[in-house]
Formats: sequence, C-alpha cells, structure tokens
Amino acid sequence: MLDIKDAVAVITGGGSGIGLALARYWVERGGKVVLGDVSEEALKKAETEIKALGGQVVIVPGNVTKEEDCGKLADSAIEAFGKINLVAPFAGVIKDGMMVATDKDTGKVNRKMSLKDFQFVIDINLTGVFLTVRECAERMINNDCKGLICLVSSTGSLGTAGQINYSSTKAAMSVMPKVITAEFFRRGFSDKIRCVAIAPGYVGTDMVKNMNQEALEKILGNVPIGRLIEPEEVASLVCEMYRNEAMTGDTYFIHGGLRMGSKG
Ligand SMILES: NC(=O)c1ccc[n+]([C@@H]2O[C@H](COP(=O)([O-])OP(=O)(O)OC[C@H]3O[C@@H](n4cnc5c(N)ncnc54)[C@H](O)[C@@H]3O)[C@@H](O)[C@H]2O)c1
Repeated sequence: MLDIKDAVAVITGGGSGIGLALARYWVERGGKVVLGDVSEEALKKAETEIKALGGQVVIVPGNVTKEEDCGKLADSAIEAFGKINLVAPFAGVIKDGMMVATDKDTGKVNRKMSLKDFQFVIDINLTGVFLTVRECAERMINNDCKGLICLVSSTGSLGTAGQINYSSTKAAMSVMPKVITAEFFRRGFSDKIRCVAIAPGYVGTDMVKNMNQEALEKILGNVPIGRLIEPEEVASLVCEMYRNEAMTGDTYFIHGGLRMGSKG
C-alpha cells in the first residue's frame, strides 16, 4: 500500500469541483499538490484554501490543450517537490446538444451540433488529458517516481443522448488505462506507475449545477441513493486507488447505483 503523506499530486481542473475536492482530501492526509487550471482566479482561491488547511501547494495557470502549458505543469512539480506520485487530469467541460435536432412540425433537421462545439470538448477532455498524462509520465519515469495516473471517465462513457462529444471523450478515458498499463508493462515499469480511471455518475459540482435543472431532477429520480454524489466521495475513491497497488488497468464506477436507460 502506498502512503499519501509527502506524496505529490498534479491535478488539472484543480481550481474547482472534483479537482479541488481531491486537492483538499490529499493535503488533509499529508500530501502536497500542484494545481493547474485555465482559471487563474479559481486557482488563487484554491491556493488560499489549501494553505489554510496547512497544505503545501503550487499553482500553475495554463490551458491543457497547449503542449507547452502541460510541460510547464509537470516541470513545476519536479522543480518544487522533486517528484510526481499522482496524476489527476481532471480539467473537463461539457457542451451538450443533439447531433442532429429536428423541427417538431416539419420533422426536418433544423439544428446540428457545430464542429466548434464538438471539437471544443474533444480538445480539452481528450487531447488535454493525453498531453497532461504524457508530460507527467515522462517526468515520473525520468525521476524514478512511483504512483498512479488516475483519469476521469463518466457514466456518460456508456452513451448519453445529447452528449456525443462528451460521451466520446469519456469512453476514450475508459480505454486509456488499458493502453497505458499495457505499454508500461512492456517496458517493465507497470509495477511502479499504474493507471486507472474513475467513472462518476452525477457529482454535485458546478458542471452539474449548471445543467438543465429539470433534466437533473429526472436523473436524480433514477439514482438509488437519491442524491448527487459528493465531490469528497470521488476524492476518497481516488485516494484509496492511489494507496491500493492492486488497482491498475481498469475503470471503476462511482454512481450511487444510477439506473442507466438507453437514453442515458
Ligand atoms: N460533475 C460530474 O457529475 C462529473 C461526472 C463524471 C465525470 N466528471 C468529470 O470530472 C472532471 C471534473 O469535473 P467537475 O464536475 O469538477 O467540473 P468543474 O467545472 O467544477 O471543474 C472543471 C475545471 O476544469 C477547468 N478547465 C476547463 N477547461 C480547461 C482547460 N482548457 N485547461 C485547464 N483547465 C480547464 C475549469 O476552469 C474548472 O476549474 C471533468 O473531467 C468531468 O468531465 C464530472
């Protein structure tokens, strides 16, 4: 089992939601955090909060879609703390819409998801994760670090109507742990650097609070625990997966028993 005390976590999307909850949870157990986010304002607030908890924190504003920003984030962790033990590339966005929507009266297509809206989500949720993980993995290997790369998939990976962009990126997150673990196994360091994904259902963060509230009420009616998942509950799972070295190469759901119908 690994110990969180003195371990270093690099978290993107660290300025809010699940990323920030993980940062809090990590430092409360003696870990150190390097937080990346595109929102400098959110990062500064997060820094104040983490310091108030007595945690050691470095903030690195940046956009995960930019290769140089991801390199800078990984370098900052090595410069500040000399190692990386947990990589949590949690920066993510939604931009929902039907791929093709039809007019109620004519039955003809009157709207389509734009290429811009499709690409926006792919760039951040897929390319951004690839870049963050690639840059951090390089530093972990070259600095002989031990730990976990923990991606964030979603129950949306199973296919949710209105989310062809988001669901596609989250399905990709659930295959990446297998690819990364297999590659590390071939090179002989899969016992040192593991990779998993978590797949949450509906978590009470800004992402979900900004959803269509009527749709959210309907969804909650299908959740056996009868409520949104708390960001701290997701953070707790990530930390347990970090500690437990038997966990690698797969995706682990945390959704309160969500009943997923064919319409997502
Ligand atoms: N909230 C949920 O119900 C839920 C469920 C399943 C999976 N997830 C996933 O968990 C992750 C975190 O979601 P959340 O609910 O905490 O969302 P959130 O909106 O609270 O936080 C996302 C953070 O990512 C940052 N960000 C956005 N674009 C960025 C970019 N280009 N570069 C760097 N940072 C950027 C935002 O500024 C924000 O601080 C996402 O990947 C999301 O898809 C969330």
